[in-house]
Amino acid sequence: MSVPAARGGLENLALSRKEDFQTFVDAPRRQQPDLLLRAQLAALPGERRSAYDRVRREWHANLGPLRTPQLASLHEDLWDIVDSNVQDGDKAKGAVAVDAFPGLGKTTAVLAFAREFHRREIAELGAFTAQGHERWPVCRVGLTGNTGMKDLNRAMLEFFGHPGRQTSTAAQLGLQALDCVLSCEVRLLILDDLHFLKWHKTSGVEVSNHLKWIANEFPVTLLKVGVGLADKGLFSEGETVGETVLAQTGRRTTRLDMPPFTIDTDLGRRHWRQLLLALEQRIVLADAHPGMLADDLSDYLFARSTGHIGSLMTLINRGCQRAQRTGTERLTQDLLDRVKNDAAAEQARQELAYALQSGKATSRPRRTGGAG
Ligand SMILES: Nc1ncnc2c1ncn2[C@@H]1O[C@H](COP(=O)(O)OP(=O)(O)OP(=O)(O)O)[C@@H](O)[C@H]1O
Ligand SMILES: [Mg+2]
Repeated sequence: MSVPAARGGLENLALSRKEDFQTFVDAPRRQQPDLLLRAQLAALPGERRSAYDRVRREWHANLGPLRTPQLASLHEDLWDIVDSNVQDGDKAKGAVAVDAFPGLGKTTAVLAFAREFHRREIAELGAFTAQGHERWPVCRVGLTGNTGMKDLNRAMLEFFGHPGRQTSTAAQLGLQALDCVLSCEVRLLILDDLHFLKWHKTSGVEVSNHLKWIANEFPVTLLKVGVGLADKGLFSEGETVGETVLAQTGRRTTRLDMPPFTIDTDLGRRHWRQLLLALEQRIVLADAHPGMLADDLSDYLFARSTGHIGSLMTLINRGCQRAQRTGTERLTQDLLDRVKNDAAAEQARQELAYALQSGKATSRPRRTGGAG
């Protein structure tokens, strides 16, 4: 039995600089640790055992990304849009907004896409542009609390490690960012957590204008990611502020959703089951058995996560850590009951748990219902 070394390195990535992004793109897939039976576990000598446990902890903390139907369909849409955006530079390009509630996997799906896109572009076009600059097909900026226009421009320069990022005015910063984007031949500009942009009365128009300027001047597909972007008036044909400006932004932006899992249709229940089956195969616990999640815990896990992948993954990750630490070596309702989940999931749980227990609802598809 081989115990792969703990990897280290990736946990400190903030992905706000191109070098970090490169590391993320180049990181090989994690290797799933071998599954050991209880007797084999017990037979491992001290330091081999702790090395094995360390590798398993790291593995369970990073289960994913799974190719969920939501992720797959988002990727298909993104390929359509990005690949259709290769018109010549003088035409404004279509923008995309991934707008959905927290914890539904927006960032995960978008980064997985960015990684594939980066790899494809580099493989096809080479690591350097014709002018001899490094090629960076993707620029990704994560916004933080109450970012203004200037901070946004600065964050773009920060990604490229541009020296002008400390001193200049907002407009200068914007032009410098444009310069980086042009010389590095960026094709996809991702603004994650865009809802953090200052979006109040007067700055609503300013924001909208700025995004429009980026969309017009930068030869990129602008990919906006955030929560409640529609409510902020990003796509509305008027109403909120500066009617025409916003209408224009709305007309050019395609809105993509990341819905939660649902159990009110058979198709939805089948997707939920497939997710659990895929997840099961990645769990490395000595007493895990096929059907541990998909058959035994399907309703329970749905109630506790309300179909939100973020809450589900948190619960499974913490459950696996506990199962490993306490020697339970499998996931049961008893064990998971003692694991805390995020506040939103806990709050939504009660009502749903009641419906599921009383048989008013089920999370299992018809064919596999009942005994599974
Ligand atoms: N396809 C997936 N496979 C496995 N895990 C996933 C997947 N999508 C999301 N997750 C997990 O769910 C959690 C939340 O995902 P993510 O951060 O992408 O959500 P988000 O929609 O960007 O949330 P927020 O709006 O809070 O930024 C992450 O911990 C991630 O590991
Ligand atoms: Mg996110």
